[in-house]
Amino acid sequence: MSPFDVSQVDSAESSALEQINAAASVDALRESENEMVGKRSPFATLQKTLGSLGPEERKEAGALLQASRQRVAEARESRLVELSQSERAQQLEVDRMDLADVVSSRASAPLRAGHSGLVASTQRQLEDVFVGMGFTVADGPEVETDWYNFEALNIPPAHPARGMWDTFYLDVGEPETVLLRTHTSPTQIHLMENAVAAGTLPIHAVMPGRCFRRDTPDARHLAVFHQIEGLVVDRGISFADLAGVIETFTRAYFGPDIDSRLRPAFFPFTEPSAEFEITCTICRGEGCRTCSLSGWVELGGCGMLDPAVFEAVGIDSEQWSGFAFGFGIDRCAQMRHAVSDMRALSENDLRFIRQFS
Ligand code: DAH
Repeated sequence: MSPFDVSQVDSAESSALEQINAAASVDALRESENEMVGKRSPFATLQKTLGSLGPEERKEAGALLQASRQRVAEARESRLVELSQSERAQQLEVDRMDLADVVSSRASAPLRAGHSGLVASTQRQLEDVFVGMGFTVADGPEVETDWYNFEALNIPPAHPARGMWDTFYLDVGEPETVLLRTHTSPTQIHLMENAVAAGTLPIHAVMPGRCFRRDTPDARHLAVFHQIEGLVVDRGISFADLAGVIETFTRAYFGPDIDSRLRPAFFPFTEPSAEFEITCTICRGEGCRTCSLSGWVELGGCGMLDPAVFEAVGIDSEQWSGFAFGFGIDRCAQMRHAVSDMRALSENDLRFIRQFS
């Protein structure tokens, strides 16, 4: 065993202190701990050599060694506190959320005002176009009886056409069947009944509103949707008047590069009847998923008022004639803004809604 050497105590201490001061982080300091004061450290080696001394010297040397270790331990402890404080301060700086910044950015940001949804603003624009063509705007109830939604429109019970308008029935405990209207056409009946009662024929009106069907939503259908109905009852009205109104409307609303066309169709309340379609605005007529590859999108139906409807409301079809049309407001919004999937209109996704402020 080599003899105890006091000078080695000093050099062990100064190298340990150097190492402590050089440690740049709490982790680095902890890692060097073994090396400085552990079993293989110079202090441990010196401790072992104490045995080579006589009792008196050993006591003295032991005290010396102990004091030196004590100083190293204290230096280590204070360096540890220093390092952990500065690390914590750095972390706080990184994590800090500056409330002053938040407050001032809020204060200077303009207040975001709300705006109408796409369907509501589309409805207003459609009304504007028709008002410009001389129509008035009327309202009708969303909850109807079987009479208004079906029978007065020449759709008797068990008529196969009812299948086109399957709906939600309300259990109101009345003998009469009450339902959520499947189209805006029943409003025509209300308007004609009222005009007959008040003696205010002719009628040139559009009737926008919400409708309901037991439809499975897809890219072009929603179970809750909106239509705008048109009704003209006057003397000497012909199919040419109807076609002219549809064409004028299409150009005014969708622009000159979108075409409309009428295709023969069947509706119990009009004769003859037609479906009116416009060029698909998503693909400009090329054919896409939205228009089922046809290049055309159906907007609605139209036709000359059936004498059976005139009879139901007490209008003399020898004196009066007229036409009606009804089409989807949501579909118009979809086509005007090239929304490929109509479900976006009712999903309330702000990223979608904010595009139409
Ligand atoms: N009510 C029909 C529907 O929802 C659309 C319609 C067709 C309305 C012909 C009309 C009309 O006024 O004349 O399917």
